[in-house]
Amino acid sequence: MPRVAVIPGSFDPVTLGHLDIVKRAAPLFDRLHVLVTHNPGKAALLPFTQRVALLEQAIADAGVEGDVVVDSWSVGLLVDYCVEVGAQVLVKGIRSSTDAEYETPMAIVNRDLAGVETLFLIGDPGTSHVSSSLVRQVAALGGDIRPYVPRAVAEVLQPGGRPARG
Ligand code: PNS
Repeated sequence: MPRVAVIPGSFDPVTLGHLDIVKRAAPLFDRLHVLVTHNPGKAALLPFTQRVALLEQAIADAGVEGDVVVDSWSVGLLVDYCVEVGAQVLVKGIRSSTDAEYETPMAIVNRDLAGVETLFLIGDPGTSHVSSSLVRQVAALGGDIRPYVPRAVAEVLQPGGRPARG
């Protein structure tokens, strides 16, 4: 049986922290699905299609090796998608004890619902301060997001390479 995993997230937008986790998870599985999915607790900035396109571009630019598929899922449970694609494992990046507290109940519920296990990878310390919400805030207020995101994201959110502030 092929080892298949899913990395789910809002990816609104994808950050260098996400990309680090994708790079490190890809060689651990026969196929890795990077899944843009809905977080009921968050208001979205970018549409699903753009988040998928930016992930695809960032993964290609980073030269991530292995069978990596970018997809989206907007109806039903995350584990329904896992069952549909034959994934036995969810992969999540953990930056801090706050992340661990947030993720633990979801990991238990996802295992209860469908027997899907969650594998936690500890984020690289170089990007442990980076989050999509921080990137959205810095971009909205005219700061430079280039240290935190793949080039493709900076080009979309700050075209011309300059922060939006005049
Ligand atoms: O990047 P995020 O916003 O922290 O990702 C959270 C996400 C999207 C993975 C989480 O909200 C999620 O799993 N949503 C799918 C809905 C679902 O299946 N919920 C029940 C099980 S926890």
